[in-house]
Amino acid sequence: MSERPPSPPFGGPHGRGPHPGGLHPGGPKNFGKSYQNKDPIITYCVEHSLKQTPAEKELQESTLAKERMAGALGAPEVLQLGKNFIELIGAKRALDIGTFTGASALAWAVALPEDGQVHTFDVDHTPLENTGLPVFNKYPEYKKKIVFNLGSAMDKLDELIANGEEGKFDFSFIDANKDTYPEYYEKSMKLLRKGGVILIDNSLMFGSVLNPIQPGHKAIDACNKKIFADQANANILLTLGDGTHVVFKR
Ligand SMILES: C[S@@+](CC[C@H](N)C(=O)[O-])C[C@H]1O[C@@H](n2cnc3c(N)ncnc32)[C@H](O)[C@@H]1O
Repeated sequence: MSERPPSPPFGGPHGRGPHPGGLHPGGPKNFGKSYQNKDPIITYCVEHSLKQTPAEKELQESTLAKERMAGALGAPEVLQLGKNFIELIGAKRALDIGTFTGASALAWAVALPEDGQVHTFDVDHTPLENTGLPVFNKYPEYKKKIVFNLGSAMDKLDELIANGEEGKFDFSFIDANKDTYPEYYEKSMKLLRKGGVILIDNSLMFGSVLNPIQPGHKAIDACNKKIFADQANANILLTLGDGTHVVFKR
């Protein structure tokens, strides 16, 4: 039996930043973002799944080429899954928690109808301004669907709840600071209507959930357990990208 070649410790040329792409020591090696983990089966799946527009391809390439924290970029296969759900459930309003250069917000804008809207949140708009906006400005048809919010995502979600927006969103993508994942999940559930879908990125965090030590890893593990314990809703934790937890609000 031939052995799989070892992954480079930090996942290759784009393995920089807070999501280095290196697998947790002793952890499984059969998942990871496709631009970091070049396992042939992951590559095969991606080659038979991605339907990216030129705008999405351009933003992905530009982020990988320009950003010091390029490894924070959402895996295109996870974004494809989100786009498919948006179309399937007829979503019109999406939450995007963690903008970075705007790749996930762009994916949702592509999938949403003409009158759809994405609310994206980030505490830092530097990557958006340096890398995202030069691409977005070429594609006003997508940019016009996105509301870029600067500030704490938690505060902004609380504002939406206080403003009577509970039950008025269709889709949420959770991908900001990991230590408050359980709270982002609770607030997303409040803001979603029945039949809404949540995707939670980095739900396996390079395998660290098997032995969570850092606060962020503990919070991801706690969030996975909280979702699974919730009998009222349906979920599936997938080894897609760096782990994608999908929640269906009943
Ligand atoms: C993994 S990146 C998001 C990637 C993006 N969703 C994509 O698909 O490319 C996480 C982002 O969360 C932002 N962030 C960190 N803490 C935050 C907070 N408390 N509120 C809002 N955004 C935060 C970071 O600045 C960073 O840009």
